[in-house]
Amino acid sequence: MVTGASRGIGAAIARAFAAEGFRLFLAGRDRAALEAVAAPLREGGTPVALWVGELLEEGAVDRLAEAARAAVGVPYVLVNNAGAVRAARLELRSPGEVADELRLDLGVPLVLARAFLPDLLRRGRGHLLNLGSGIVDLPLPRLAVYAAAKSGLRGFSVALDRETRRRGVRSTVLEPIFVRTALGRLPGGGPPPIEAVGRRHPHLVLAPEVVARYAVGALYRPREIVRIPRAWGLLRPLLVAARPLYGNRIGLPPPRAAPAAAREDRPPPADPSGPR
Ligand SMILES: NC(=O)c1ccc[n+]([C@@H]2O[C@H](COP(=O)([O-])OP(=O)(O)OC[C@H]3O[C@@H](n4cnc5c(N)ncnc54)[C@H](OP(=O)(O)O)[C@@H]3O)[C@@H](O)[C@H]2O)c1
Repeated sequence: MVTGASRGIGAAIARAFAAEGFRLFLAGRDRAALEAVAAPLREGGTPVALWVGELLEEGAVDRLAEAARAAVGVPYVLVNNAGAVRAARLELRSPGEVADELRLDLGVPLVLARAFLPDLLRRGRGHLLNLGSGIVDLPLPRLAVYAAAKSGLRGFSVALDRETRRRGVRSTVLEPIFVRTALGRLPGGGPPPIEAVGRRHPHLVLAPEVVARYAVGALYRPREIVRIPRAWGLLRPLLVAARPLYGNRIGLPPPRAAPAAAREDRPPPADPSGPR
């Protein structure tokens, strides 16, 4: 079962799992995009069931879990992948928007895991793959809410793994750095912010298929935390130590064509009472 399977990393994971012989239950909001992911997989002989819905709606997680049970029973692998990010300074964001981002990136994966856990434990077999982020090791400006959610997700995933692994249920947090997807694009806005990162630092941006390969690998060699790419895991202490050298030059730019975001990089107005 993969949430956020209509595009990006979720779609790539769905394709990789189909190649491994899994039956699939895919969730997303965009029905046409989900169908486009499912069609070639079905043609290749993989049974694929779909669920279309907004995960932030009241009761959506329960409805999704119920639909999955009816379609495929209790999934062996739950990929908590659906997520969103908005690169903006915290003081420019509305409280509602902040709450929604925390709920989608942290609350929904927890509640979905909770929904299936009793059945997974009864069966004594299962694996949760939670899409965290490299941001946990390298918190970046304008991504404070996202960093909070993904840090919470890592804590949840690791603690749960230690709680349930002896009973046959593993939990892994996958933490990619930048991946070439539409993440962070505003509806009707310009190109995804990750495109700009890719132009400035092409070596830092991975294809979604790379993350999917690590996801498959985690099933066969379960670990608590999988940093992606592996080299990032090794270089991380160096990069963290070298942060004063590159300052804030690596990071998501504010999305284009968003009036609030466009304002945010202007320097604050000079304080008239300040020193002259
Ligand atoms: N791209 C990166 O650089 C990167 C790096 C580290 C971690 N990640 C994580 O990887 C995961 C996948 O991101 P991605 O890069 O593949 O992003 P993406 O291309 O924007 O895909 C996001 C997916 O989540 C679904 N989704 C978003 N909001 C939803 C909502 N409210 N209700 C239901 N579904 C919703 C989308 O569904 P629809 O398309 O149907 O709306 C889509 O399938 C996220 O958790 C992200 O934080 C990404």
